[in-house]
Amino acid sequence: MKRTALTLAAACAALFATTVAQAATIKVSCSGVGQELEFCKGAADAWAKKTGNEVQIVTPPNDASERLALFQQVLSAGSDKIDVFQVDVVWPGLLGSHLLDLKPYTKGVEKEHFASFIGNNTNGAKLVAMPWFANAGLLFYRKDLLQKHGQKVPTTWDELSASAKKVQDAERAGGNDKMWGYVWQGRAYEGLTCNALEWVASFGGGSIVEPDGKVSVKNPKAAKALQTAASWVGAISPTAVLNYAEEESRGVFQAGNAVFMRNWPYAWSLAQGQDSVIKDKVGVAVLPKGGADGRNAATLGGEALAVSKYSKNAALAADLVMHMTSAAVQKDRAIRGSFNPTITALYKDPEIVKANPFMGELEGTFTSAVARPTTASGARYNQVSNQFWNATHEVLSGKAKPDEALSRLDQSLTKLSKGGKWN
Ligand code: GLC
Repeated sequence: MKRTALTLAAACAALFATTVAQAATIKVSCSGVGQELEFCKGAADAWAKKTGNEVQIVTPPNDASERLALFQQVLSAGSDKIDVFQVDVVWPGLLGSHLLDLKPYTKGVEKEHFASFIGNNTNGAKLVAMPWFANAGLLFYRKDLLQKHGQKVPTTWDELSASAKKVQDAERAGGNDKMWGYVWQGRAYEGLTCNALEWVASFGGGSIVEPDGKVSVKNPKAAKALQTAASWVGAISPTAVLNYAEEESRGVFQAGNAVFMRNWPYAWSLAQGQDSVIKDKVGVAVLPKGGADGRNAATLGGEALAVSKYSKNAALAADLVMHMTSAAVQKDRAIRGSFNPTITALYKDPEIVKANPFMGELEGTFTSAVARPTTASGARYNQVSNQFWNATHEVLSGKAKPDEALSRLDQSLTKLSKGGKWN
């Protein structure tokens, strides 16, 4: 009898120990731009509830470059402070060696995602991150203001400049002295690389470093592109744009004080929010071309979720990632948050298309978006980008002429690339 009781007690203790060992706290670090944090937390909490685990959200800075610096610090220290990371489309090459191979956890579901994202997130034989949402630069415009002032949706940057100025001046004369023509991301960070790559590519000036490794940024079309953008500062864009990231530009547009805005898709659902003063007044178009011989160019962005190799709960963290990147969660995020899915079939989902007309209408923007030069520059991508955004920022703030800034950048990138060989 005594023996049975003891055995039972031991069994209970063992059971309790397993239960305790299984329930874990997974620390997730997702970005907080717009509604990102709220959506991240919602999906992570749902997983925690379903599995009996806990999640803790670690909020990093909103600025993508600051977030990268933090993640690099945590990962290079081999720390388990964060289990799940929100990884930018340009980071797998930079962080990949610290990330877990997710292949054993996907059950083949990666086949449903855009192959380009899966390729982008594959490091050697390892799938280091699951695609979560896709981004491409878009032009948001005030339908009501363009109509009121007899303007068309611009197709070239010159048309945009002229329309922006016209509407801005007329609105100011009519009493809205806060009105600006065009807001975008001009702070010296990764977001400026995205904006400036769009300008340069739209003028036919290449994509900084070409796929064969050649540094291409010193050319008259790129110079013209930067010159054009510099002419906006203080004229149709507030000087403060030189310190704007995504949310600062959206703040101005969302308050009703800008005619045009360059931003990512997330801005759509916020513009359409119940309490939004611009609800039903906003249109979305492709970004303008450099000129008659230019092209529409949207920078390809996007985010994925990855698990740290140093996580003490790697299998659970991977399970959380699979839940958060699943079709059901991506569908909810698309409908309520206008986050573009990375699962191909969701673009045919009637509810998603209804909530986000631009996803169907501008499909080409997403499939032909311009990639940042990560393939050629590999582990040195962040240095390339850092030098490019600094050179651009100097031109925008009037500290350097485009030709000078691009010549210096060319010299420095050529050196960094070991003459275009990158080895
Ligand atoms: C968005 C994009 C990302 C880009 C960043 C720049 O988060 O998804 O790819 O690097 O914006 O700010």
